[in-house]
Amino acid sequence: MRSNLIVCNKMEKAIRGDVGCPVPAFTSVVVRGTHCTTPEQRGEMLKRTEYNPFSFPAGMLIVDYLSDSGSSAMTDVQWAAMFRADESYGRNHGYYALQDAVRDIFERGDDQKRLVEKVIIDQPNDTWLPPTEEDKRGGFVNSGKYQLEHPNFFITPQGRCAENILYSTLREILTERSEGKDTRFVIPSNGWFDTTEAHARNNKIQPVNLFAPNFNDPFDPKDVGKKNTFKGDIDLNRLVELIEKEGPANVPLILLTITNNTGAGQPVSMKCMKECSAISKKYGIPLWYDAARFAENAFFIYKYEEGYSTKSIPEIVKEMFSYCDGFTLSAKKDGLCNMGGILTFRDQGMFYQKYTSPERDLGVRMKEKQILMYGNDSYGAMSGRDIMALATGLYQTTRLPYLEHRIAQVQSLVMKMHDEGVPVILPPGGHAAFIDVNKFFTTEDGKPMMPIEDFAGVGLTIEMIRRFGIRACELGAFAFEWDLKTEEERKGIVNLVRLAVTRNTLSEEHITYTAKAMGLLYRERHTIPKVVITRGKNLKLRHFQSGLAPIYPEGFKE
Ligand code: F0G
Repeated sequence: MRSNLIVCNKMEKAIRGDVGCPVPAFTSVVVRGTHCTTPEQRGEMLKRTEYNPFSFPAGMLIVDYLSDSGSSAMTDVQWAAMFRADESYGRNHGYYALQDAVRDIFERGDDQKRLVEKVIIDQPNDTWLPPTEEDKRGGFVNSGKYQLEHPNFFITPQGRCAENILYSTLREILTERSEGKDTRFVIPSNGWFDTTEAHARNNKIQPVNLFAPNFNDPFDPKDVGKKNTFKGDIDLNRLVELIEKEGPANVPLILLTITNNTGAGQPVSMKCMKECSAISKKYGIPLWYDAARFAENAFFIYKYEEGYSTKSIPEIVKEMFSYCDGFTLSAKKDGLCNMGGILTFRDQGMFYQKYTSPERDLGVRMKEKQILMYGNDSYGAMSGRDIMALATGLYQTTRLPYLEHRIAQVQSLVMKMHDEGVPVILPPGGHAAFIDVNKFFTTEDGKPMMPIEDFAGVGLTIEMIRRFGIRACELGAFAFEWDLKTEEERKGIVNLVRLAVTRNTLSEEHITYTAKAMGLLYRERHTIPKVVITRGKNLKLRHFQSGLAPIYPEGFKE
């Protein structure tokens, strides 16, 4: 994959103006061939892997949409950066490059310093010198001695490790302050992702989903590509109601997932971020982002939100992050990396003020955990090579031609499936096509074909693998534990199957093949099995590891 660096954002727009379509975002320089397997071979393998799609060998698939996490093809610039990595145990030069990349991307807008480029070409640079006046203390990355005395930027191997540090530290502080009382703490979100939700629960914090009020509104397919209703927003009225009901003291954070993965990958509007920031200030509750797909979200704002079409992606990202107090980021998505995570909070911001104390600095507390679990702060269980890939990837992923291509490819998958009659969530989100499982399993005359606890979505993913070698992920009744939840909690579950598009890897042929296969499966949905859990029903994050068994309708044996 070679990125087309010569085409800057402005030129790209000009060229598009002439031709009326996006300029190609990249050229492939390395490719991997597909191994074709038969439905019988895949059926046999499904049996041997307890029908759990996570356990199915990737090498036997034709297209893998299980996750867009860590599955990207990196650019040649990232590979070049990896070659220039430093594997020193303490303070490798990638650490400084990454810190500066985080400042560039999340704070500096168009005014970037791009230190990593100097490191790549071995140009003398001042990375290891004492911080400049401007870079002393403040923002998302403290420098020099301030990063030691008041650390606020942490490298981790992936997103959930950052979440582990965040939620376990919060729990400790909340417990200390509860003085023996068993207080209930609630964090409202526009949509918790499964592992993030599990970290909150693991630390006895109640996650609550407040999906946008327009989430289930129909969207005219003719408007796809022309407008967007930002269905990833949080329900602001319910947010205020919840804070009033629970009491601001019992709401440790407001969380915005950007884009909203559980909410069908839908984007969050700048307007919503701004309003959440105002609510956060009013009630003294820090605003936190789960920023795994921040760049895709920025593109939606650029393309569809009024007032942003003349702004650059870096300027939009800068504004988005000006509203939050801190964020965790799985670099395996919009870091365009195969591994990596970040935790950072605004120095002396509301989050810091609220949870630090004269006896124990909040960041020092987090750093103790980082060192205990993930090693020295300057590598955070990442190799120097991976750190360099991330420091570079953050720039690569915020380039307009790349984002144009990315969002257009996902849109193409969604619309081709829609044209085949498959009920997909519209408008298309940023990283995946989402199938509405309840609608998929509805008869022509509008009757449900299976009760929700039959996990029809899992049955669908099993048949996708067996018949067509296509792997997707159920993110609905099974993954979010419908059977184990209360009536109230069930309201926060949307029953979906997700086809996550891996970055920079798939061609339009993959998309067409998938859409045709899904159309066929939709027309033959009466042949799809229900699924029972044979092992591990009560395991945490059971969808990654439990055993399953399909039960086919009479007359339709696999
Ligand atoms: N937050 C969001 C919104 C995510 O989508 C993920 C991971 C994480 C946090 C955790 O990050 O995997 O680096 O530990 N999502 C992947 C997915 C697994 O398939 O959507 P991680």
